Amino acid sequence: MSDTKIRVRTATTLLKEDHQEVKDLFEDYEEIEEADGQGRESIFEQIKTLLSVHSQIEEEIFYPAVARAQDEEAGDLIKEAREEHRLVMQLLEELSGLTPGEDAFEAKMKVMKENVLHHAEEEQRDIFPVFDGLDRDERDQIAERLQSRRRELLGEI
Ligand SMILES: [Fe+2]
Ligand SMILES: [Fe+2]
Repeated sequence: MSDTKIRVRTATTLLKEDHQEVKDLFEDYEEIEEADGQGRESIFEQIKTLLSVHSQIEEEIFYPAVARAQDEEAGDLIKEAREEHRLVMQLLEELSGLTPGEDAFEAKMKVMKENVLHHAEEEQRDIFPVFDGLDRDERDQIAERLQSRRRELLGEI
């Protein structure tokens, strides 16, 4: 195998980095004084953007690849994951209509954090190993597509 080409990060590394980033953002959110509404709003917006882009690239590129793996569980795992994304997107939508500091906002934010962390953990534990069963070329291709679609959605290109 030729290693002359600089390798992109693996697909699962890229997704894990997003998981870590959102986890850090939830922690940042909790460290900001409740009275600092603007500070909380700004972190919330970052969480919203990251989760929206992350879910979209998984649903468009990563999950369909996982579904192609020779694994009996893959179909059910993906269905459950898409359902979890749907619930998180619904919470994000509801949160967007509320103001940080309000009881309803803080309660929903806590529930969303729990849902997101649980989902990311299950994804890494149950779905990533199925993806790793695909052949190397396909995994590399998926990594490149995830990266470029992510950049595109973030408006970086
Ligand atoms: Fe996900
Ligand atoms: Fe994920």
